[in-house]
Amino acid sequence: MAKIVIEGGIPLKGSVKISGAKNSALPLMSASLLTAGKCILYNVPKLKDVDTMKDIMREMGVQFIEEDNLLIDSTYLRFKEAPYELVRQMRASILLLGPLLARHGRARIALPGGCAIGARPVNLHLSALSAMGAEINLDKGYIDAKANRLKGADIFFDIPTVTGTENVMMAATLAEGKTMIRNAAKEPEIVDLANMLRSMGAYIRGDGTDTIVIDGVKELYPAEHRIIPDRIEAGTFMIASAMTRGEVEIKDCRPEHLGALIEKLEKTGAEIMIGDENIFVKGPDRIRSVDIKTMPFPGFPTDLQAQFMSMMCIADGCSVIKETIFENRFIHVGELRRMGADIEVNGSQATVKGRKRLLAAPVVATDLRASASLILAGLVAEQGRTEVYEIHHLDRGYESLEKKFASLGAKIWRES
Ligand code: EPZ
Repeated sequence: MAKIVIEGGIPLKGSVKISGAKNSALPLMSASLLTAGKCILYNVPKLKDVDTMKDIMREMGVQFIEEDNLLIDSTYLRFKEAPYELVRQMRASILLLGPLLARHGRARIALPGGCAIGARPVNLHLSALSAMGAEINLDKGYIDAKANRLKGADIFFDIPTVTGTENVMMAATLAEGKTMIRNAAKEPEIVDLANMLRSMGAYIRGDGTDTIVIDGVKELYPAEHRIIPDRIEAGTFMIASAMTRGEVEIKDCRPEHLGALIEKLEKTGAEIMIGDENIFVKGPDRIRSVDIKTMPFPGFPTDLQAQFMSMMCIADGCSVIKETIFENRFIHVGELRRMGADIEVNGSQATVKGRKRLLAAPVVATDLRASASLILAGLVAEQGRTEVYEIHHLDRGYESLEKKFASLGAKIWRES
């Protein structure tokens, strides 16, 4: 069983290049289904989730040519169900639903189950696509959807769902008439997707705000697109530098995507210098405790909550962490406690009493961002080696994370 081993206590120093965003790459790959032809994506991260998305799309007749970019040829797209054994591994396969319905009028995708961090229903996706004229049935655990031609509709999301907004935006590009999405998600990945769809010939405006308007067209055309940098990977390295008394330059990132984290990190005493496409973070001698509450963009991202909690475990003082997006995103708490962390959980709120040190221990990762938080804890843990198990979770969303940390001077390696 593969594990990552860390000998903590070394301040990180140097510069690290951020990879393309996982949560952009996945919807952008799906968007290529909207046209018969060859789309090209640049800056595609080498991740397990990207490979899983390719496996599912290949089953549907999509061809890939991968060099330093990813050519996606959806000319020979055929109807094929997205099997449970692949969807189970990656819930984002729900993003295929909108494009398949728009291009083909037919889709059969396993209903993504829950995952470690929550039930993660897709009811908002399904009700929105039904409002656009899709006939959707649940059949033996599969979403079975049909639509002759989708029609534009006025959609209001109770919750600003990220992939729900992406699914409807993609479906609406080929629908008849106008679609409005109110209470839409505003994440940078939504804008990245809208930019690619516009380069394919779609009429979209308002992306990045809570109201997006799409005027359907008859056909879209192949396009090329460079994926934005991964703000969550960038944030993970910013936190790592701050908590290890490091001096790290994070290159090829978009500071404007990280405003909430920058504001909180400055409150911990970290020194932050911001360039156009890079951020320099110098960690203080002792991190000060800071409260956070996760919110939809531009609020503090839920995908950085676990990493921030690791840093608060060694802060001077007590911090309150409120998780408002997912109902079960404190699984990393139990493992951090094994390293000596003092954390009380009460429903969706965790209270972290900072300690002078964490202690090395064997720990088990349970989900993608929890894995990152345990590695961060290992980077500062004393008295021995921290071993992080079940690191397949990590490989879903980070490209060679341990190698990038090693290039910053950390004593970290992977053992199979
Ligand atoms: C996206 O998930 C991201 N994944 C998640 O990143 C991220 O944590 C999340 O957005 C929030 O920012 C991708 O983009 C592939 P939501 P998504 O729909 O779209 C509820 C990572 O680590 N909800 O915005 O699935 C839902 O249960 C992953 O990279 C419904 O109730 O999240 C949650 O409580 C983890 N019904 C809230 O809305 C629905 O139909 C926000 O979920 C849809 C969502």
